[in-house]
Amino acid sequence: MNIDSHLFVIFGGTGDLAERKLLPSLVRLIRDEEAGDRCVVLGVSRQDLGDAAYREWAKNALLESGLGEPGVERWCDDNLHHQALAGDAGGFEALRKRIESIEAEQGLPGNRVFYLAIPPGAFTPTIEALGAAGLNHAPGWARVVVEKPFGTDLESARALNDLLLSQFDESQIYRIDHYLGKATVQNLLTFRFTNPMFERLWNRDRVSRVEITVAEDLGIGGRAGYYERAGVVRDMVQNHLTQLLALVAMEPPNFFEADHIRDEKVKVITAVAPIDPDDVVYGRYEAGTRNGQGVPGYLDEAGVSPDSTTPTFVGLRLYVDSWRWQGIPFLLRTGKRLPQRSTHITVTFREPALCVFHGRRDDCVHEPDVLLIILEPDEGFSLRFNVKSPAEDTTIDTQSLHFRYSDVYGKLPDAYQTLILDILEGEQTLFVRADEVEASWKLYDPLLELPPKLVGYTAGTWGPPEMGQGVPLGA
Ligand SMILES: NC(=O)c1ccc[n+]([C@@H]2O[C@H](COP(=O)([O-])OP(=O)(O)OC[C@H]3O[C@@H](n4cnc5c(N)ncnc54)[C@H](OP(=O)(O)O)[C@@H]3O)[C@@H](O)[C@H]2O)c1
Repeated sequence: MNIDSHLFVIFGGTGDLAERKLLPSLVRLIRDEEAGDRCVVLGVSRQDLGDAAYREWAKNALLESGLGEPGVERWCDDNLHHQALAGDAGGFEALRKRIESIEAEQGLPGNRVFYLAIPPGAFTPTIEALGAAGLNHAPGWARVVVEKPFGTDLESARALNDLLLSQFDESQIYRIDHYLGKATVQNLLTFRFTNPMFERLWNRDRVSRVEITVAEDLGIGGRAGYYERAGVVRDMVQNHLTQLLALVAMEPPNFFEADHIRDEKVKVITAVAPIDPDDVVYGRYEAGTRNGQGVPGYLDEAGVSPDSTTPTFVGLRLYVDSWRWQGIPFLLRTGKRLPQRSTHITVTFREPALCVFHGRRDDCVHEPDVLLIILEPDEGFSLRFNVKSPAEDTTIDTQSLHFRYSDVYGKLPDAYQTLILDILEGEQTLFVRADEVEASWKLYDPLLELPPKLVGYTAGTWGPPEMGQGVPLGA
């Protein structure tokens, strides 16, 4: 697709996200000539750095990301700018003038991305100020990108949507869930809708349960301030796990277009039955080990209150009340300080109606067929099935077929690179629509209102003992 020359404005241009993800992704796209004829970047933050210091900071950040080539340094000198944002109303007026002057100097046609890589508390004033300064319209196009977390509950998400939609049209708004930028997540749709072999089985008649796991081996690091307020449901379930659920459970869209796909995703989320609090297990990590080294429990992490009731793990069972899925449990699980970083989906198929090899059903010793979809790391698929062991007469063995992306395609692009390219192309399929985000909060709000009953788990294990050892929740 042809990408228009543009100005990419990063609010929070000196932050962690800009440093580790946004600038490196943009520079890779520019280096690979995928970001249009001209991509000029304006970093915005409150601290006054000036262009020269910002360019030096960015060069170091890019070097850290393996982008130390002389061409990259030259690009920074010619195309990277910084604007300090004063706290008063004049700040955005000055920003508008700066944008216009850069566009005039660099011969840009007035296409603008405003990427809000700022603390969530700054979203509202920034969106209001963009509108007040007339930056919601542009001589070309204007697009606004909103990072996660999008609200903290239904009410705040609605308020943020209302504000955004009062200043921008939905077609200008890109709500990021970076999970959707992962190649393997996008491949869920390709896999489902180009392989009728599996799609024929993808329903309550053939599937007995679906499990979605996002395991993190790290703790909260230095993010206690954020995590204490958020907890695991807001941090991971409402967004990433629910997006995966929607992609796994949705009906085929009529067309592979943003709104057709998002319509089907919303249908899944709105079809989820209210979650029974008895189907939810919360956990909190206690002191344990990671890679053989001792690590503290959550309550001993810097910045965590001794009276904290914040969960770091949740396992929950929910049901999608649709024609396709009624009665089939979807088991969602995520936590910090688990044994390894892993995002995977397992689809467990029903067992044979009769166990012909072992007579009575109770004696049946074979395993159900399982499709394992690994989203990270080591992205790929594994299909587990039963074979006869050659050694003995009736012994049934379990074997797998594997496909690994890296064996065939090498390193996959970073999710942010994919998403930024889509923003530049005006492609919204991988971004969350207003009704999707609200449907998701509506589902989890009732859980957030109940005090979590916390079960302790040792750091480096698979969560509360009743969750099993890496084997996902029982149905
Ligand atoms: N870091 C990640 O990996 C990650 C992943 C997913 C989502 N996010 C989301 O991305 C956003 C940024 O995260 P971060 O980790 O980059 O935060 P960060 O490291 O704390 O950086 C925040 C940036 O925003 C600037 N800033 C703060 N208030 C501002 C305002 N009112 N106007 C303009 N700039 C302002 C800061 O500079 P000054 O203080 O000088 O203004 C700084 O450049 C957050 O919403 C976060 O939830 C981050």
